[in-house]
Amino acid sequence: MKNFFSDKSRRMQPSAIRRMSKLAIAAGPDLISFAGGMPSPQTFPVEELAEYAVSEIRDQNGRGLQYGLTQGHRGLVQWICEYASQKEIAATPPNVICTTGSQQALDLISSILIDPGDSVFLETPSYIGAIASFRNSGARMIPVLQDEHGMVPDDLRGKLKATPPEKRKLIYLISNFQNPSGISIRADRRKQIAVMLEEFDVLLIEDDPYGEIYFDESNRPPLPIKKEAPDRILYLGTFSKIVAPTFRTGWVIAEPGLVQKLELAKEAADLCGSMLDQRILYRFCSSSSFPEHLKKLRSFYRQRWMAMDESLQKEMPKTISWTHPTGGFFIWVTLPIGQDSESFLEEAISAAKVSYVIGQAFSCDQSDKNHLRLAFSSEHPDRIQEGVRRLAKVLRHN
Ligand SMILES: Cc1ncc(COP(=O)(O)O)c(C=O)c1O
Repeated sequence: MKNFFSDKSRRMQPSAIRRMSKLAIAAGPDLISFAGGMPSPQTFPVEELAEYAVSEIRDQNGRGLQYGLTQGHRGLVQWICEYASQKEIAATPPNVICTTGSQQALDLISSILIDPGDSVFLETPSYIGAIASFRNSGARMIPVLQDEHGMVPDDLRGKLKATPPEKRKLIYLISNFQNPSGISIRADRRKQIAVMLEEFDVLLIEDDPYGEIYFDESNRPPLPIKKEAPDRILYLGTFSKIVAPTFRTGWVIAEPGLVQKLELAKEAADLCGSMLDQRILYRFCSSSSFPEHLKKLRSFYRQRWMAMDESLQKEMPKTISWTHPTGGFFIWVTLPIGQDSESFLEEAISAAKVSYVIGQAFSCDQSDKNHLRLAFSSEHPDRIQEGVRRLAKVLRHN
């Protein structure tokens, strides 16, 4: 039989997280997981969601159980426009499309913008799911340096210059509390990067799933880059971290021509998102509880971050350093050069019963060996302390 697989399918690779999950399942319930960047179920507004779900199924003449508009539920789209205006992003409904999580947004954007061989510039390290979408589309991924203030504009400029103009396509970055590093891009850099979009005739994906989860008011992130160059930026948001991931609802705010293409791509992918999910989200997010809910999230994750940071300070060998995020779910740990975080992963999971994600998974050329990502979002502070103790023990003898 001939090989039926497409070129695109041949580019697909299993993610490091999936490989690790197998080990984690075998390790059983004692495992303390710093691996998946999942929100804590304790933050889910269960009672209100249950009430809205029942009402949407029972009382709305079946509208919550029906197909809907590809662009998304009208009320939710309008809500997204109003919510964006609080961050000084000007949007009306033609600028918005709801997607099946922001992961689908990344995939749809890749399919409407990237031809094989086109260049995508992204921070190193960067988000695994974005790397997978770009890779599947055949993009040439160009890593751009990141330091403690985010993507380094001079490095980006140099790499844009070194790429033939017809191949420059997209820049991808996570502006706030980045996955995996926890780093946010400083305000002046946001402006410098925005200027380059026109200069080098490229578009930018600003992915912002964690921007609301700042640990206290003084850590509120600067305004989105989107504000600086609205026509050239596709701004991605999601309800996964601020309400619950099961709703699989995210959104893109972009120039209407881009949104129309995304709508065509989404129609072919899944016709429309789940109307039930979108209607429940609309009810919750437009209720008076939502701002209070966001406040609770911030202090909830702040406690977990503090538990992890304090434990790392207490337990880790002096040769190891880590980032100090002011929001989000993640810490990025740097090991001494030469130490490979993959070499002791099996021991950590199977023997010490603590998991993390290897740094290599977050680099588009698989090169980043002496890092690992710790997520502090999903374990209780007591288990965070115990998990760090276990990890430090493994690190000390590797
Ligand atoms: C940076 C980033 N972008 C996008 C996503 C996808 O989120 P979702 O598809 O649940 O909206 C995630 C999920 O962890 C993420 O960390």
